[in-house]
Amino acid sequence: MALSNYQKSVTDRIQQLKKERNAIILAHNYVLGEVQDIADFCGDSLELSRKASMIEKQDVVVFCGVKFMAETAKILSPKKTVLLPVFDAGCPMADMADAEEVRNSKKQYPGAITVCYVNSTAEVKTEVDICCTSGNAEKIISSIPKDQQIIFIPDKNLGANVAKKLGREMILWDGFCPTHMRITMEMIKKKRDEFPNASVVVHPECTPEVVALADEALSTAGMLAFARKTPAKQIIVGTEIGIIHRMQKDSPEKMFIPISEQAVCMNMKKINLEDVLISLEKMQYEIKLDPETLEKAKKPIFKMLEGRI
Ligand code: 13P
Ligand code: SF4
Repeated sequence: MALSNYQKSVTDRIQQLKKERNAIILAHNYVLGEVQDIADFCGDSLELSRKASMIEKQDVVVFCGVKFMAETAKILSPKKTVLLPVFDAGCPMADMADAEEVRNSKKQYPGAITVCYVNSTAEVKTEVDICCTSGNAEKIISSIPKDQQIIFIPDKNLGANVAKKLGREMILWDGFCPTHMRITMEMIKKKRDEFPNASVVVHPECTPEVVALADEALSTAGMLAFARKTPAKQIIVGTEIGIIHRMQKDSPEKMFIPISEQAVCMNMKKINLEDVLISLEKMQYEIKLDPETLEKAKKPIFKMLEGRI
């Protein structure tokens, strides 16, 4: 879509300030299309973590996503100034586990390995053995000996989906993503009836019942790769609708059908183009973590990037 004159002037100013501040803009696949379009790099949580760990030239990272992602970037690039353009862009699932509860759970299951989805606070990460994302959860869990008890924090759906796929038991935290919980089996059945030739792809934060009705359950980067490769001309997308902007750009000849217009994460929609501009102008809102948290939270994230426990 063509930019309005106003959007163009905001975009030009962002580009100018980006140079002045020596900044890079990273964006998650769910944020508003206008923000994805000005980002230097868009990706899923794993790709964004990898990118954040490799930033050399720039001094400033403007992170367009939610807080736990910006915190992860700070943990991986502690010398950089990491900005989250809207201070209250959080992840409700990440707030479903706190460090004290994790400590209590470790006492309840002594000897268990704690695996933590990156959708968690930096404080929680200081307490766990290894992190994972939806893109590498199977690989990380598979690296843990079969007889080892595992506590999976905080997403019970991702945990249950991986446990089912790998045929192993895990102790699941009681957290969930409210956006993906809104996706129901009925929605999948209805869309399949409407589009019988379409492929159905969902995110593994959906319930196992929903995943069972889909053709694939993939991270957002996995979904993009699937959309490029599949011979299907129509794809029913069972995740936050923001990803359709990128899918459509990548594969303009295909038709992408949102599972529901209600599959919206309000937090991912909080950052608009003007917020990015103001963030660069005022250098706000800086992610600050104390040195002890940075040091401790780094370990499970680095282990994840190494790909094994
Ligand atoms: P991805 O890592 O698949 O992009 O997912 C992040 C997320 O928050 C999903 O709700
Ligand atoms: Fe968190 Fe769900 Fe939003 Fe992802 S979509 S950021 S898990 S609330």
